[in-house]
Amino acid sequence: MSGPILIFDSGIGGLSVLEHIHSKIPAKDIFYLFDNARLPYGNLAEQDLIDGCVALITHQVKALNASVVVVACNTASTLVLPKLRENLSIPVVGVVPAIKPAAQLSMTKHIALLATPGTVERAYTKELISEFAGGCKVMLIGSSELVMIAEDKAERKHIDINKIKQIVAPINGTDIDTVILGCTHFPLLQQEIATCIEQPITLLDSGEAIAARVLSLVNIENGSDRKRVSSKGLLEAGYTKDIDKGLEITLANYGFKRLLRLP
Ligand code: DGL
Repeated sequence: MSGPILIFDSGIGGLSVLEHIHSKIPAKDIFYLFDNARLPYGNLAEQDLIDGCVALITHQVKALNASVVVVACNTASTLVLPKLRENLSIPVVGVVPAIKPAAQLSMTKHIALLATPGTVERAYTKELISEFAGGCKVMLIGSSELVMIAEDKAERKHIDINKIKQIVAPINGTDIDTVILGCTHFPLLQQEIATCIEQPITLLDSGEAIAARVLSLVNIENGSDRKRVSSKGLLEAGYTKDIDKGLEITLANYGFKRLLRLP
């Protein structure tokens, strides 16, 4: 269990999960893998999504001798986890939209799920809603545009707040009091999203819960990792398409020491 944690997403969204994991387990090396060549995943055909993610992640797990995989992408988690677990012998942690805590927290029993078009349509999400939010009205908003706005922000480009306003407009004027950020890109726009919603609102994501799960795996499966708490883990990133200068600066600000364009 000495290899790095491999955190995976289509783009920069998984950084919202990485932040929680890195702050809980700072001594652990992390390799952040993102498939920017095929971004956004929310519009990809299901079989393409499964085949591409499984091949890419499996290859990197072997190349790095990774100890844990975190699929820090809701869209991929709705489809690829069973096949990935079949292929790998290390723990595979997926992301689940925070539907259960949102349903418990909502006073008005009216909540919204903001996610990708893929995630809002999948049976996986519908099952979560009927299991955990049966007593709530749930508004579904699927947007790949919001994913690309988060990418623009990470590339340090100007972002148009009016576009975000249009995407969240159906929430305004309703009694929705809790919004699930069911795409890992969206916590990176948390402030902008909150500004665009007119009523008082709670925004929920799964980053903290995922980090707690990863911490339990690292602690249980390798007590010796506790000895390294004083040292700082190495952050590296690998991606499938060239990135621009703006994103390089953002990744350096997160503490990434090495950036690798994968073949
Ligand atoms: N960050 C991803 C998610 O959590 C995927 C975004 C996309 O590529 O569409 O769903």
